[in-house]
Amino acid sequence: MKNEPQSGAYVIDGGFKLYGETEIMSAKNAVLPIIACCAAVRGEVRLGRCEQTSDAMAMLDILRSLGGKCRFEGMDIYIDCRGLDKHTVNRSLTSRLRSSVFILGPLVAALRKAEISYPGGCDIGVRPIDIHTSGLAALGVKLTEDGDKIVCDGRGLHGGETVLPFPSVGATENLMMAAMLCRGRTIIRNAAQEPEIADLQNFINACGGRVRGAGGKVITVEGTDSLHGTDYVPIGDRIAAGTFLIGGAMCGGEVTVKGADPSHLGSLTELLLAAGAEVTEYTGALTVSGNGKLKTVKKAETRPYPGFPTDLQAPVTAMMAAGEGKGYIIENLFENRFRHVPELRKMGADITVCGRAATVRGRRLHGAVVTAEDLRGGAALVLAALKAEGRSVVKDIYHIDRGYYDFDEKLRELGAHIQREKV
Ligand code: UD1
Repeated sequence: MKNEPQSGAYVIDGGFKLYGETEIMSAKNAVLPIIACCAAVRGEVRLGRCEQTSDAMAMLDILRSLGGKCRFEGMDIYIDCRGLDKHTVNRSLTSRLRSSVFILGPLVAALRKAEISYPGGCDIGVRPIDIHTSGLAALGVKLTEDGDKIVCDGRGLHGGETVLPFPSVGATENLMMAAMLCRGRTIIRNAAQEPEIADLQNFINACGGRVRGAGGKVITVEGTDSLHGTDYVPIGDRIAAGTFLIGGAMCGGEVTVKGADPSHLGSLTELLLAAGAEVTEYTGALTVSGNGKLKTVKKAETRPYPGFPTDLQAPVTAMMAAGEGKGYIIENLFENRFRHVPELRKMGADITVCGRAATVRGRRLHGAVVTAEDLRGGAALVLAALKAEGRSVVKDIYHIDRGYYDFDEKLRELGAHIQREKV
């Protein structure tokens, strides 16, 4: 995040159990591509249960810069892109979030042209966009680079078949959106299967599009002439839900998260059970309970969905660091996603990293002054601080604001001793 980070810190007194319920809102990773998709919708869209995370605000700013009208009313986002007529997104906007690349597909679909500066976002690895660009090329889009800009000429956009070399979430979504308004049929093979992709399909179809197969490995898009406005409620945020569940398991007590689908959290539930927490699943809710004395799980390895999500790797690292015993974490998705480890060490954690593997020996954690280096790593530091003995300060929490709204207030409602302070 290079753009106007709001400085701030969480001051946390650790060692308190968590009790109560927290309500999970629409998933950031579902909302972002859906907002981008609205660039190609000719009608008003209302998205329900949305929070003003800084990533969502940044994506709305991108639509505004292109001529779209967007506003928040309570928890609803209203978007009207009937007047959207610009196709260039400049660096000051794309540098705010990596997901700005999602705008390529909808712009190519709507205007047959797009131009964006290379996207920014969390510094968790190289994060190339070659799968996005080669997929777009397979649909007849001509791509050129102009300095740090990617320029798309979509006048030749047509349906086509493409096999992704890796099931990239963003590339799968971008291609679905590029294909939704072009002639013919598009087949995306080796597609990512994350629930947010099925949610994007459901949104496109609610606007009159014709997409099927999302959630599986093969997605078929039949191009249609136009998309109309709709009312839509994106799926609950499985990563936010997972973060609260891990916090409840680490601190002990009993925490219920409402508004998340337990079937989206199967890989985490397995880890929580292996660590010795109790998990109860309901329709649209989960409860975690225990005494806060966890075993360090033997191995947690990140994989594309339905495997264990990389976005919960850092919180699970914190959980393992505060458990009893030795375990391993393998990060297969991003090469630079252990930036929370040196910070956790300041709290007494015993973790060694070698390439994509981390060895964790559970220890009693103590309070420390630490710095969030990215979104989920920052959330992991908060969880570690809730568990640690004594006071911690987590700095640079603007990273956390990208994906968690009112994180401190929600944790306070569960009994955590956490305050947000300006520094
Ligand atoms: C999305 C999520 C992010 C999550 C990630 C993996 C959103 C808004 N973000 O990010 O929270 O951590 O999925 O589940 O939904 N890759 C390439 N070339 C490409 C695209 C990706 O090599 O063109 C690589 C990436 O560097 C990474 C892997 O593929 O190693 C997965 O990336 P991808 O699935 O695309 O993640 P995002 O869509 O960026």
